Amino acid sequence: MSRSHNFSAGPAALPVSVLEQLGPASIEFGDTRAGIMEISHRSKAFDAVIASAQDRLRRLMGIPDDYVILLLQGGASLQFWMSALNLVGDGGAVDFLDTGTWSSNAIKEARRIADVRVAWSGKEGGYRAVPHAGGYTVRDNARYLHYTSNNTIYGTQFHALPATDTRLVADLSSDICSRPVDVARHELIYAGAQKNLGPSGVTAVILSPWALEQSAVVGASHPGGLPSMLDYGLMAKKDSMFNTPNTFGIFVLERVLAWLEDQGGVHAIAHLNERKAGMLYEELDRSAFWQPHAEPMSRSQMNVTWRIHDPALESVFLHEATAAGLMALKGHRSVGGIRASLYNAVGCDSVEALVGFMKDFESRKG
Ligand SMILES: Cc1ncc(COP(=O)(O)O)c(C=O)c1O
Repeated sequence: MSRSHNFSAGPAALPVSVLEQLGPASIEFGDTRAGIMEISHRSKAFDAVIASAQDRLRRLMGIPDDYVILLLQGGASLQFWMSALNLVGDGGAVDFLDTGTWSSNAIKEARRIADVRVAWSGKEGGYRAVPHAGGYTVRDNARYLHYTSNNTIYGTQFHALPATDTRLVADLSSDICSRPVDVARHELIYAGAQKNLGPSGVTAVILSPWALEQSAVVGASHPGGLPSMLDYGLMAKKDSMFNTPNTFGIFVLERVLAWLEDQGGVHAIAHLNERKAGMLYEELDRSAFWQPHAEPMSRSQMNVTWRIHDPALESVFLHEATAAGLMALKGHRSVGGIRASLYNAVGCDSVEALVGFMKDFESRKG
């Protein structure tokens, strides 16, 4: 095996035991006498796959029975717009917490149709922290407050729900299923699959009864209703299969969720994620050679970001790391530096290898 330790921010590492199942299922899936990519999305065999994916996600996240789970296409980026269209498309008010690029992108899309106010922004502080309770206010007439639970690029993460009584909408793309979340406190959660749930091309969307109702109200205010592909109500009625879904992506997602259940579920993986991130932050705090980006209270357990005290050493670090079998450690192009993404499928052995390499690098270059 010559696979590297993979710290990619997404698409990201998947469990090897899942990858091993994909070859055989691509040739012959169950008793269908065809590969998983070659059967109809209307077949009984695929029906069972999507139902199992939804059941597993509901169990793993504790999603209430009256919430709907959709598996759509278009990525989280489409949800920036689609969520605003369905929930405030009639020009209503919505507040946002801006914790970095992905929040900013969500704000930009929502502004096309909603009365958007940024209740708090970390921009001036270089997006090193998420807001603390009491650090912002939400308008009385805001239909919801939108936040990004984990900032993939800057390496910050909320460690408690935003302190407000307002309805919540959240982008969980980079930490879904990495730790327990109070789903019932949210009206809408969305997440691209390509970090913790599976391959790119599938987006999980979790909707409360209020969100569905709101979508119907907004739809009724549009002559002819909302465009079909952007209508949560229609997608729910057709069980995510108004048109042809990403059948292979949903199959892989179902297998990843089965793997996660085998690991003991979200509580068990949360302990492991805490341990992995703890090992890396301990090394970053040990020496002034490293300069972690996020403030300690806002540190992400999924994406750990840092600089080297001498920035000229960063390209050397990345080059040597790749040669040592530690891949995809380059920070996002917008911020530079180093980023290690430690999603669910990244093992403790990978973090140990990274920390060992860092100690050696510092001893040679420090
Ligand atoms: C937190 C967050 N939101 C949204 C996105 C955009 O996702 P997509 O590429 O699925 O549109 C990303 C991508 O990395 C992300 O990390």
